[in-house]
Amino acid sequence: MGNPAMLDAAERHEQQPTLQQELQQYRQALLTSLMTSAVMVEARDPYTGGHLWRVARFSMTLAEHAGLDALESTRIGIAGFLHDIGKIAIPDAVLRKPGKLTDDEFAVIKTHPDVGASMLAGHPLAALVEPAVLWHHEMPNGRGYPQQLRGDAIPLDARIVGICDAFDAMTSTRPYRAGMPIEKALEIIEQQLGEQFDATLGRLFIDLGRAGAWQHIVGHSDDGIPLGVCPACGPTLVRTQHTVDGETVTCPACFAQLQWQHEDNPSAPNNQQSRSWRAVPTGQRALFAVAQPDPQLIEQLVTRWLRFSQ
Ligand SMILES: [Fe+2]
Repeated sequence: MGNPAMLDAAERHEQQPTLQQELQQYRQALLTSLMTSAVMVEARDPYTGGHLWRVARFSMTLAEHAGLDALESTRIGIAGFLHDIGKIAIPDAVLRKPGKLTDDEFAVIKTHPDVGASMLAGHPLAALVEPAVLWHHEMPNGRGYPQQLRGDAIPLDARIVGICDAFDAMTSTRPYRAGMPIEKALEIIEQQLGEQFDATLGRLFIDLGRAGAWQHIVGHSDDGIPLGVCPACGPTLVRTQHTVDGETVTCPACFAQLQWQHEDNPSAPNNQQSRSWRAVPTGQRALFAVAQPDPQLIEQLVTRWLRFSQ
């Protein structure tokens, strides 16, 4: 018989996390909190619902098809999620302005990559996302911002995220215009190969798009889930896998309160979802709308990154 007190101590020792596990937990918490902070940007601009989710998805997929390994592709997906973090500092009058910006207003918008990089400076994981944050608006022809870098002087992350960001902007609906069809946006990228967009990565993005890779991302806010439609503003409502029947949602553009209804759709073909979701106005208006972080996407990316970075 061993000494019970000594056995307890041995058991306690076994249950304690190793230094390696503690480090992993610390890195997980840091990355999760960094990604959650990106949602503040989505809360500021009513028409960016699901933008971060889509840019992360496009960026990770494009990186994988460009031959990058799982760790690098995941990191670039994370960078896609965080690329616009600097927009938090852009005043509402500019960020939420419908229609064309004046030169002065555009000069304000152009500060967001530098602001984002400054915000991240000193964060222990800043290096993961900094190139995309700072250089996602650079163009191979040297006419981008903030530093007018040319060609391959633009880091790979930024060239990938730049294409995905522009494509999502073109295919998303705004108050003053409907989103473009996928093919039209791909044609615009094609015309700008080597000018606004990296020629090789842009060509790959177009080929993937024509093979149908983007259909389940464009206009969606989670895997297999299209954005919900506010009757007054269009597709502004973010729904996720966790949304339940009867849950309310506020349109981030007009603040109308709507209720999700999950209803039978007898006309749907057998191989498609036979029930569909609709957002029905309750007649109430909210004082504010809250952008929710997408816990599933954040968890997926953080878990993948931790697994492959060991
Ligand atoms: Fe941006």
